Amino acid sequence: MLKFYKAKATFFEVAKSYSFPIFLYDKNRNLRIVALLEQVELTDEVMQEWNNFENKGAYLQIHIDDLDDFIAQTNTSKEQVHAENEFYLRMHKLQDTRLEAYKSLSEQDFLIKSVVSNVSKTSNYLPLIERVKAEVLCFPLHESQAVSLCTELVEKLFSRDILPVRSAAFAYIICKQNKITDVEQLSNVIIASLIKDAGFGLIPTNLFGNIQEMNSSSLYLKHPMLSLYILSKLNVDFSKEIKRLILEQHEQYDGSGFPRNKKDNHIDFLSYIVNLSDQILMYGAGKINGKNISLEKSIEIFYKRISVEGINISFPENLLDSLGSFLTIKD
Ligand SMILES: [Fe+2]
Repeated sequence: MLKFYKAKATFFEVAKSYSFPIFLYDKNRNLRIVALLEQVELTDEVMQEWNNFENKGAYLQIHIDDLDDFIAQTNTSKEQVHAENEFYLRMHKLQDTRLEAYKSLSEQDFLIKSVVSNVSKTSNYLPLIERVKAEVLCFPLHESQAVSLCTELVEKLFSRDILPVRSAAFAYIICKQNKITDVEQLSNVIIASLIKDAGFGLIPTNLFGNIQEMNSSSLYLKHPMLSLYILSKLNVDFSKEIKRLILEQHEQYDGSGFPRNKKDNHIDFLSYIVNLSDQILMYGAGKINGKNISLEKSIEIFYKRISVEGINISFPENLLDSLGSFLTIKD
């Protein structure tokens, strides 16, 4: 349910006071403060401040329960308020529909070890994918482009068991096991996992036949940059955080990754998660050595730091340790 209506500074008059509090909402920080207390006169200085905040993207709000008083005490009509809030009303309606559809699934018991064990036995990733979908579609409303884009993508894509979706869903689960709960960060990880290899379209297909040849091809080693190049043509404003995850998708802790041979904490922890999830899933699906192995076995290789041709196990220790929580038998 929508709790606050967006209001504009022009709805109010200097030298007047109102019987309800007026709030100021900073959408970038998801922060709301009181902009003017009830029965306090609105001064010129305060109005000036409001204008400055509006220019920076923040906006005034009134509580939904104060709407009638607001209409009575200003020259604003209900229609004007609704027109100003059309986007938010639509957004809330969308969220109500999603909550109705996914809330109960998102709250069901979810024991990661048994889910991994079942996926390993059946090779069916859909229960894992569907669960992540339910959780993501119940993300609290957040005025953020990343969260909106992520929920859109998840709603449309997370009903198919395809590799990028597996990889994105599993990256989300790794985040949660590492106590990353910020919806903006989780959204960035999912988006980056889904689109990070958009640049593959610019690489000659014969390279994909031989993993060694591919790993030493300079064009392949540039594919994170090529992905950013393709994405820059899409007319979507991807955040610098998402671009960083894409650019660092193959960087490794010891500097043995590419394209920039970055090292340890010069690489975002979330980039490591995108990378790790992808390698676990790619290896499990036989994309690296042609042999399909179970999800559990693939996780185990990274958890036990077993070196295998075609994969790179150089990650922060705590991240690899966290994989233990997915495994039923660790030894
Ligand atoms: Fe890649």
